[in-house]
Amino acid sequence: MSLFKYMLYGKRSKKSVPDDSNDDYDYDEDKTITDNDNLSVDPVTSKINIGEIFGPNGIPRHVLAKQGLINDEIDDKEYWWCYKGHKDFDPEKRKLAYDAVTVDQAIEHLNKKIASGDLPVFTIPAQIIEVFHLLERQDFDYMEVSSIIEKNPSLTGMFISSINSSLYNRGFTITELYPALLRLGKNNIRALLQLYSIKISFADDRRFGNMARKIIRHSYIVAIIASYLSQRYFPEPGLAFLAGLLHDIGKLGILKELSLDPRFCLRLKPDVTEDMFDPIFAGRHEQIGVKLGQQWKMDDLTLSAIERHHNFWEYDFSDEDQLDYHLCLLINLSDTMARILGEGRPIGETNIFLEPATIDLNIEKNISTVEFFADIPAIVSNKSANNIL
Ligand SMILES: [Fe+2]
Ligand SMILES: [Fe+2]
Repeated sequence: MSLFKYMLYGKRSKKSVPDDSNDDYDYDEDKTITDNDNLSVDPVTSKINIGEIFGPNGIPRHVLAKQGLINDEIDDKEYWWCYKGHKDFDPEKRKLAYDAVTVDQAIEHLNKKIASGDLPVFTIPAQIIEVFHLLERQDFDYMEVSSIIEKNPSLTGMFISSINSSLYNRGFTITELYPALLRLGKNNIRALLQLYSIKISFADDRRFGNMARKIIRHSYIVAIIASYLSQRYFPEPGLAFLAGLLHDIGKLGILKELSLDPRFCLRLKPDVTEDMFDPIFAGRHEQIGVKLGQQWKMDDLTLSAIERHHNFWEYDFSDEDQLDYHLCLLINLSDTMARILGEGRPIGETNIFLEPATIDLNIEKNISTVEFFADIPAIVSNKSANNIL
């Protein structure tokens, strides 16, 4: 989608609701649907039976209707995006990471940190600091960056997997480090290296480390979903990937901060999970995330998505800020999708098409969208995502 078309589509004023049911298709009207057209059923995506109706190349509604293979209405209940809710999801009965008094102390402690701007510092391996220095130079050379990173096989694997996950289904695969770095760009390289360093910095701490790894994995999945959705709903997939990677960075900052203080380290409950931190993370991970993003010299669009990805409707986006607004919507939607698919905190009953972010992005429920969304569980279950861990 061109930037011009995008700008016409997505204005916050909602004065125009686009009809994207006329998207161009590459199809043959006389095509008969056979079993071979069906999408394979992945164990993770077994809820999806979209392949029973739609061939992988996309066939318009009227052709399917002519062949008697589709009802007039798309029944959401049949598809992954209409989710009954996680079996353990009950915000009322949620356990806390600490006793109530310690939760209050943690909140007070973090509020002071936010006010003072005194942020936790993550230890960064010397090899990565060398890359950061290189990336700061105006005339940095990707070949030079590549020659440092390739000495570390797990970092090399992470970059190649990242680019291939974010390019999912776009017709090519990258197998070499240099083109992967070139394609990811400076900011995504820096963000991935930061996440990698954070993961390593929690290596000796089992309980905080487990949560940190899950948050990093969730962020990575949100990044690849956001990048995939950008094919239709955002003009800059690289920026969407970056905002996805960093949207919950503040949670990692909070975990690091608490892990350094014996009060919060020793009193942590043994069976702790991320959702038990909800009262502590809520409203604070966005603020600490912005400060970390500023420290890492991230661009304003990414900072805005970090700050506003949960409560975008509370902000007044001007005409000039429509790109910021759409990035917030995209990250919010990608986050919800990741959670439905089990990558993130448990989520209650949700239908993606009823989500405010979906509505504000003007995503219409039609065959074209249904088919586009059907690939998302496969992206999430893609084995390459494991390389980030
Ligand atoms: Fe968040
Ligand atoms: Fe998230």
